[in-house]
Amino acid sequence: MALGERDEFSGQMTTGHEWNGIKELNSPVPKPVYLALIAFGGFAILWTVLMPSWPGLNGYFRGLLGADQHVAVRESLTQAQAARAAWADRIGATDFASIQADESLMQVVRDTGATLFADNCAGCHGAKATGGPGFPNLANAPAMWGDEPETIAETIRVGINGQSPETRYAQMLAFGRDKMLSGAEIGTVVTYVESLSKPEVASSAEPELLAAGAEIFANNCAGCHGLEATGMVESGAPNLADEFWIYGGDRASIRDSVYHGRAGTMPSWEGRLSPTDIKLLTLYVLELRQAQQ
Ligand code: HEC
Ligand code: HEC
Repeated sequence: MALGERDEFSGQMTTGHEWNGIKELNSPVPKPVYLALIAFGGFAILWTVLMPSWPGLNGYFRGLLGADQHVAVRESLTQAQAARAAWADRIGATDFASIQADESLMQVVRDTGATLFADNCAGCHGAKATGGPGFPNLANAPAMWGDEPETIAETIRVGINGQSPETRYAQMLAFGRDKMLSGAEIGTVVTYVESLSKPEVASSAEPELLAAGAEIFANNCAGCHGLEATGMVESGAPNLADEFWIYGGDRASIRDSVYHGRAGTMPSWEGRLSPTDIKLLTLYVLELRQAQQ
């Protein structure tokens, strides 16, 4: 290795390294970079002294400032609980009508209810509670089980075909799969069911076909759906004569409902949500319904 020498163009020393005639200059680190390195290094050392940093055998060095995220989290949790307790107690102790008349409590319903709904219900009933195939529209369709506050709260508490021993029960029989009706009979009764909500079917179908369908309906379906097909809460059977459908009102979906049967599951929420949360959700759903009417 040759010793360093002065470069005749820049006037700086070379390092003495040489590659195929090219020599490396020994330029000093630029001042601003040098100062920045010292500043950052100094800050890093200062920070490890001020803040929690070095691990040790029994815990860690806590830092001179005593900063602790655990304490901060605990404090904000306590604050949030205190804030929640203030309205949770009032909502728990107040009846539905009085809460609905109290704008400050309804503001809590809107804020907290929206979060509760998004976390627990939107996965099935949709973000706007308008339902989807297999899941009823809660915002703007007639509620099969009833839309009194107490009834909705009860539906949420016990669920439908849920795990609670008190759950509501809704079982549509599989008339095709279990061979209670032939394929032709199912086709006929489906046309009849369609005719109840679709004027174009009612006017175009053969009158004899509709009469035969009405008879099949009276013998096999009316016991649960009612003679007028407007549904019966006692059997959990929905109205088939309006434009609202859980599983779809096109011919293929109606046929599927009759052929394979249906038993949608709405979970029982008692034990998973507190009575106050169920109350909040009930009021939240009711307000959505009022807003849509
Ligand atoms: C796992 C899916 C699922 C979840 C989650 C769910 N539901 Fe349901 N819910 C259903 C189904 C399915 C039905 C209809 C049951 C049937 O077909 O008879 C229903 C029915 C209802 C009804 C009765 C509607 C009527 O017509 O009377 C209400 C009210 C309701 N749900 C509210 C809620 C609320 C509030 C939540 C959140 C706490 C929730 N649901 C979460 C599936 C769900
Ligand atoms: C044992 C009582 C029972 C009988 C009998 C019954 N149903 Fe149902 N039906 C139900 C219930 C309960 C539901 C709702 C199931 C659910 O929501 O999961 C239902 C749902 C339906 C649906 C789907 C409605 C929708 O909103 O998507 C159709 C269509 C239907 N039934 C037609 C019939 C026809 C046609 C017959 C006669 C051939 C019949 N049902 C007989 C109880 C019954």
